Amino acid sequence: MTRKILVTSALPYANGAIHLGHLVEYIQTDIWTRFQKMRGHECWYVCADDTHGTPIMLRAEKEGISPEQLIARVHAEHSRDFAGFHVAFDNYHTTHSDETRFYSEDIYGKLKSAGLIEVRSIEQFYDPVKAMFLPDRFIKGECPKCSTRDQYGDACESCGAAYAPTELKNPYSAVSGAKPELRSSDHYFFKLSDPRCQEFLRHATRAVCANQPEAINKLQEWLGEPGENKLADWDISRDAPYFGFEIPGAPGKFFYVWLDAPIGYMGSFANFCKKKGLDFDAYWGKGSTAELYHFIGKDILYFHALFWPAELEHAGYRIPTSVFAHGFLTVDGAKMSKSRGTFITAESYLAQGLNPEWLRYYFAAKLNGTMEDIDLNLDDFVSRVNSDLVGKYINIASRAAGFIAKRFAGKLDARHLSETFRAELPGLIEAGEEIAAHYEARDFARALRRVMALADQINQYVDKHQPWQLAKQEGQDAKLHEVCSLLINAFRILTTYLKPVLPKLAHRAEEFLNVAPLHWADAAHLLPPAHLINPYEHLMQRIDPKQVEALVAANRESLAPTGANAAAVAPAPTPEPSPQRKAQHQQATEDKTQGQAEPKPQHISIDDFAKVDLRVARIADARHVEGADKLIQLTLDLGTETRNVFAGIKSAYDPAQLVGRLTVMVANLAPRKMKFGMSEGMVLAASDADGKAPGIFLLSPDSGAQPGMRVK
Ligand code: MSP
Ligand code: ZN
Repeated sequence: MTRKILVTSALPYANGAIHLGHLVEYIQTDIWTRFQKMRGHECWYVCADDTHGTPIMLRAEKEGISPEQLIARVHAEHSRDFAGFHVAFDNYHTTHSDETRFYSEDIYGKLKSAGLIEVRSIEQFYDPVKAMFLPDRFIKGECPKCSTRDQYGDACESCGAAYAPTELKNPYSAVSGAKPELRSSDHYFFKLSDPRCQEFLRHATRAVCANQPEAINKLQEWLGEPGENKLADWDISRDAPYFGFEIPGAPGKFFYVWLDAPIGYMGSFANFCKKKGLDFDAYWGKGSTAELYHFIGKDILYFHALFWPAELEHAGYRIPTSVFAHGFLTVDGAKMSKSRGTFITAESYLAQGLNPEWLRYYFAAKLNGTMEDIDLNLDDFVSRVNSDLVGKYINIASRAAGFIAKRFAGKLDARHLSETFRAELPGLIEAGEEIAAHYEARDFARALRRVMALADQINQYVDKHQPWQLAKQEGQDAKLHEVCSLLINAFRILTTYLKPVLPKLAHRAEEFLNVAPLHWADAAHLLPPAHLINPYEHLMQRIDPKQVEALVAANRESLAPTGANAAAVAPAPTPEPSPQRKAQHQQATEDKTQGQAEPKPQHISIDDFAKVDLRVARIADARHVEGADKLIQLTLDLGTETRNVFAGIKSAYDPAQLVGRLTVMVANLAPRKMKFGMSEGMVLAASDADGKAPGIFLLSPDSGAQPGMRVK
């Protein structure tokens, strides 16, 4: 029976580059949809850029372009990166589209008619300098629990406490640095606390997450016990200025980005239906028999398993068949990190000349359909690709192809070999359905383990018959022909099994095998007798570990001020890329527990250390900086020259007490343009591990040291 299947991946924010963490999701979804297509189902894979919200608006402003220009540029970059990793969307749209606007207004209107929208006045922080209300993530201040400074408005990164932004001590706007004011404004709420929603969610979300017990547990926790009304109403409006869709009948009020983002799935599909002449309602209408799946990261489960089904249900649409949540990517056991060079962008991976199918294979070998995190261990990456993919699989073709070409004019054995094949390589054809079941269940790791076990079996067959020996022996031509023909057939079957993961390689293998694009069912039979194959060209290189080292080096932020040093340079406040992620405080705390502790710093060589030019400096002048609440402007005398440096030490020092004293500075740090001028270096100061504790201690050399002396 042909199934009708619609598949989505989460819509990436249009203000950042695609990185390897994102790719876990897009590669996973792509493998699954390619598999469904190979099985002959009608399966569509749609996605879009998530383009609305404050961060995108501010980012465009910072770059001096319009939000429309920014999202157009990022759309092109994202499309390029996805294509580079062979992620084959049937449609890649944008939420800033007529279709998404249409369905946002439609759904909102229906929720309103159903009495599920309520207007309420709320008090919120307002930035008087920027003249805008501030999202939680754009407010910083001291944690109300542990007093750590510079914490976001939703949760403390130091002690993990979750709170409302109004609870922060000494709050400031991360946009302008101004002290925010509390102002009230009317907001629109989706009444999730309504008994109809509670009742629906209790039943529906279980079904939507049925395949993932970890997700069910989370939902249970969020919904509480029956009768316990834990779910708060959801604030779906934001005040101007905001980049998004204005709410009909509510001038100056906009749909919150998370209201229209999932509706972007519908928008992208509607756009696709128009191009293809497909029936939208057959997929989204109530009573649709099509299957609908959303692949997402575990951080956005809340939105997809609660808010989204509730919106759809009460607006008269079908709800998703399932939401498939996956875990987060770690690299060498730790969170991706810019300073370690493991925050690797899709673009840089390709630019360094690494093969995207290496990564597809490695991720697939790790993905098992659960919400567990996935680790990219760089050594394991190299050895697994080299030993499994090249050593076991590619090797089968390269060992047999030469003899077929040279000795048999490119033709396979003219006899029917089915029986011999089944006798010599038992189970190879029969494994097809079992492997398919693993793909279907998104347990790609198991599918690939099975395929590699078959590859081992085929390689044993090679070793048993030693075609290179047969080739030297008199009268063994027929045997050689048979062995090599069986191997080419075996290679073709493995290629079919691996094709969802390795589409480009499979395409080249199809050319070599001289066959039409392989479907799953093709693995159930052999090539026709005397089939002509094309000359073999090597299908895949091994990874050279040096390529991986170069990739990490290319992504390492050189001498970026981190840890204790960060306190001494007080970076201009730049908000995190995806601040709206945190729907609720539960969500915020949840994210914290996902963050792995940074591992102990690795050793550096003496040469690495020597790159840092540390000098004794005399503070020739120190002044307050107008409008900055953390910075002191220092004029540093290095003996032969002076430097202007902004140091974030105002909380601990009075400028007057600094003038004349000696300290230590990094003299070869790349100059940084800050809001108040150029900073040409950095002074060294000690503070606690996070650089956030109340105390900051400027370093000084022992007396007698002279300005300009090198510190080694
Ligand atoms: N724009 C929202 C999603 C809206 S869906 C209607 C968003 N965007 S995102 O760019 O931050 O993330 C896109 C997807 O990539 C999410 O599913 C997210 O979980 C996933 N990942 C982002 N970083 C990731 C890792 N480091 N590891 C694995 N997946 C990650 O959220
Ligand atoms: Zn705290």
